[in-house]
Amino acid sequence: MNQPPIERRNFLKRLATTGAIAAAAGILPQSSKAAATPPKKLRVGVIGCGNVAGSYVPNLIAASDILEIVSFCDIIPLRAEAFAKRYQVKDYYPDVDKMLAGAGFDLLVNITSMPSHYAVNKAGLLAGKHVWSEKPMAPTVAQGRELLDLAKTKGVRFWQAPVVVITPQFRFMAEQLASGNLGTVVAAHGSYGHGGPDWSAWFYQQGGGCLYDLGVYNITTLTGLLGPVQEVVGMTGIVTATRRCADRGEIQVEADDNTMLLMRHASGALSHVQTGFCYSEFELPPVNKEAVQPHTLDIMCTKGSLHLQGWDWGPRCVDVAVTGKNRLQSLCKEEAPSWAGGASYVARCLATGERCLITPEHALHVLDVMNACHESQRSGRRIATTTQFPWPIIPAV
Ligand SMILES: NC(=O)c1ccc[n+]([C@@H]2O[C@H](COP(=O)([O-])OP(=O)(O)OC[C@H]3O[C@@H](n4cnc5c(N)ncnc54)[C@H](O)[C@@H]3O)[C@@H](O)[C@H]2O)c1
Repeated sequence: MNQPPIERRNFLKRLATTGAIAAAAGILPQSSKAAATPPKKLRVGVIGCGNVAGSYVPNLIAASDILEIVSFCDIIPLRAEAFAKRYQVKDYYPDVDKMLAGAGFDLLVNITSMPSHYAVNKAGLLAGKHVWSEKPMAPTVAQGRELLDLAKTKGVRFWQAPVVVITPQFRFMAEQLASGNLGTVVAAHGSYGHGGPDWSAWFYQQGGGCLYDLGVYNITTLTGLLGPVQEVVGMTGIVTATRRCADRGEIQVEADDNTMLLMRHASGALSHVQTGFCYSEFELPPVNKEAVQPHTLDIMCTKGSLHLQGWDWGPRCVDVAVTGKNRLQSLCKEEAPSWAGGASYVARCLATGERCLITPEHALHVLDVMNACHESQRSGRRIATTTQFPWPIIPAV
């Protein structure tokens, strides 16, 4: 994660004050000596050594002041072995059961392909591990609820990507909206798409699709800022009927690659998200201090508006418009933590006792909204959600 590393001296000092919380989380010994002795590092097992592991693992390595990777696992064993060799980790495994029976660890980082998330999350929680999972946590809301309940029963923590709510720009927008300076929030729009991944076929098969892979970011941001959603209307389609993927060659596309989602929030605000694997291949210009980037998210209020420059998982700044002032002000240009830094972020929350802004209840609500979108497409009806999450995420200042 790109956030400045906590200096070891300060980390130990913070640990002394938060030791009880960390001990309760099961990382430190419960003894009163805990604050005086060097902290035990959180032991991490990484499962899924595909494309995204190439971004996650360096982030975990960069957090080596608080954690150590003790094993890798992949059902393609050569991939687990390659990561283990590259990062000089002794243990690697070909399946989750062997991993859980092998070298002991505290946090399971599940970055397998989507169809495997539920089974791997369940196995990890049943074994009493904290679990960080890539999105979505499970295919259905019922299965997601089961996982949240399991985590409670086992006394462990469970979190899911994406990490959009931990960016300084998310905090800034949440505080602006809560201050009332911009009036009432009435409407919002998010857009995220590209040409689609070309390495794995599962992105285009049942259980995949652009909504779960890409739309999930904007939905997390918009529900995070505007609050829970009550009802959803969705339309989905397939623009590109066949694709070539590195692992399977030519495949038939089964999941949505062009999706439009409309949400009514409990506050009364309306928002929508458009997402696709069929958009032009353009990527936003690389983040630098000078380059202006297109807006990907707009929030309209009765006395002003907010416009996010850059993707919500790697934003550049927020442009603010206020009624009566005739120019946009570009504010909050702080660098955001890496989108691949979620597992390191939650590990740091575990180690320090810091309140984690990412919650499984929020991720379950986002899953509820995404599934409602698909149900709306199937049935032609608007669909009520059935979940809630603790909101606001950022307390008003
Ligand atoms: N690649 C990205 O840029 C990116 C970015 C953000 C999030 N993600 C998310 O990360 C996850 C993984 O994406 P990816 O692009 O790395 O996919 P991928 O297909 O490249 O890699 C997935 C890996 O998981 C392994 N795997 C699947 N089931 C398994 C199981 N039961 N046990 C052990 N290993 C298993 C596969 O063999 C493969 O090596 C997805 O949820 C995706 O949405 C990916």
